[in-house]
Amino acid sequence: MAADSFLPFTRPSIDEDTITGVAEVLRSGWITSGPKVKEFEAELSRLCAGRPVRCLNSGTAALEIGLRVAGVGPGDEVITTPLSWVATSSMVLELGARPAFVDIDPETRNIDLARVEAAITKKTKAILPVYLAGLPVDLDRLYAIAGKHKLRVVEDAAQALGSSWKGKRIGSRGDLVAFSFHANKNLTTAEGGAIVLPGEGDIALTEKLRLMGVTRFGDDGMDVDVVGGKFNLTDVAARIGLGQLKRLAEFTDRRRALARRYFERFDRNLGCGLPPADFENSNWHMFQVVLPERIKRGDFIAKMRELGIAIGVHYPAIHLFSLYRSLGWREGQYPHAERIGRSIATLPLFPAMADTDVERVCEAARRVLR
Ligand SMILES: Cc1ncc(COP(=O)(O)O)c(C=O)c1O
Repeated sequence: MAADSFLPFTRPSIDEDTITGVAEVLRSGWITSGPKVKEFEAELSRLCAGRPVRCLNSGTAALEIGLRVAGVGPGDEVITTPLSWVATSSMVLELGARPAFVDIDPETRNIDLARVEAAITKKTKAILPVYLAGLPVDLDRLYAIAGKHKLRVVEDAAQALGSSWKGKRIGSRGDLVAFSFHANKNLTTAEGGAIVLPGEGDIALTEKLRLMGVTRFGDDGMDVDVVGGKFNLTDVAARIGLGQLKRLAEFTDRRRALARRYFERFDRNLGCGLPPADFENSNWHMFQVVLPERIKRGDFIAKMRELGIAIGVHYPAIHLFSLYRSLGWREGQYPHAERIGRSIATLPLFPAMADTDVERVCEAARRVLR
């Protein structure tokens, strides 16, 4: 990328083979869910140690279906983090349940597992951790807590395809795991998602929830015994995903290399909090710094934009949105999430970025923050 061009904080890498493949799907006469979705599901399942995977049209749908398969419904509580994309907790609300927020660990920026047990009540049905920026929580500890209290787990791994925990890929173990393939994710289908299931027994319900509760039998039989959504992925999208999947390892390696470069080049005297330097588990979906309190994030973003660099915001604390305030949450309840939600800034990081782009970002940050 030329040094003087505007640098987005992310950009998908779609290759010519994928574009050709999408054109073939469009010409094939079968453009919605069909053979390409099945092929994509089989490839994703291979990536997840052979566990059943069903594709959906968003990560949000994966969360909704995951929570429903886990049996979450009206009156239940689901333990989750206030520092995420709002879909995480809003899907809990959508099902008539209530999110039970637990503050984050300010180092990892993920839910603080040390505080989870204190949040468990008789109404708790599930734990819904989020792997912010692709950094997972300690899965051994998470599942030990869930096992001890007989809770289901829905992993919001929307950002964590290609991440792992102790050498095991996210999705290859555990309970229900939700991925997103939104345009900004490490693997995209433009919009899309997938749910990894703990066993074959959950497939039928998942497929019904994905498409209007419908079960088909024989040549002309159809029944509906549950209210489902319209959550199926198209073959057009699945073909993009297949092209992306071939390059997932390459994309992850490139992101890791760029993240390493940020650690080498980012000025430690600017007062920013850097992410944990994790090169084992994280897929480096994002490189996020926490700005010092003396600088307003809006000013930082505007000044970086003047220097040709886009900065993302992922995310403000969910419980301070007006919807959540109207449901009883208030300032001061989750101080780490509130502080980091006010000051977190996503620096550019995507596979097609040049090494020199990292230097450009670090130099611009130095100029703006000094
Ligand atoms: C943590 C998290 N959860 C859920 C979602 C929802 O995924 P989608 O946008 O594919 O619906 C996202 C995507 O932005 C996310 O980052």
